[in-house]
Amino acid sequence: MTRVLFVCLGNICRSPLAQGMMEYHLQRAGLGDRVRVDSAGTAAYHTGEPPDECAIEAAARRGFDISRQRARQVQCSDIEAFDYICAMDLDNLAALNARCPGVNDARLGLLMDFSPGPAGQEVPDPYYGGEDGFEHALDLIESAVEGLVQEIRSHLPLS
Ligand code: 4NP
Repeated sequence: MTRVLFVCLGNICRSPLAQGMMEYHLQRAGLGDRVRVDSAGTAAYHTGEPPDECAIEAAARRGFDISRQRARQVQCSDIEAFDYICAMDLDNLAALNARCPGVNDARLGLLMDFSPGPAGQEVPDPYYGGEDGFEHALDLIESAVEGLVQEIRSHLPLS
């Protein structure tokens, strides 16, 4: 089983959307039972809460449901427990490294590095913006998730 963790700040907007989008694409690729997907936040502000209402609505517009997800804070043990840890932006990547010092692991990186665009791109925080911010975040997340699904598929043994 390949394990993927998406990480943002609050775990109520970007990383739940990435989790839902990834699960949706994996199902469509017939890989739903071969990859475990989760998400977490570097901050604990929203622990136990469902995703932001705007994020739930944005996901529903694209055909997937994130309403049953609940926010949690990332733990150092997550670094060992997941094969791919995908941060939404450089701040959260830095927070992951600061939180778990000594971790300089190839598995840890920016989600957008799986997209065809230039390296180092971030998924901007839509939390303080309007609906457009969520649509833009979803467009970015989708392009990277497609690349990530291909990357995982290329490493899976044939079944
Ligand atoms: P997220 O967005 O990191 O994409 O979940 C945010 C959610 C909440 C806050 C900041 C960003 N906050 O400050 O409460």
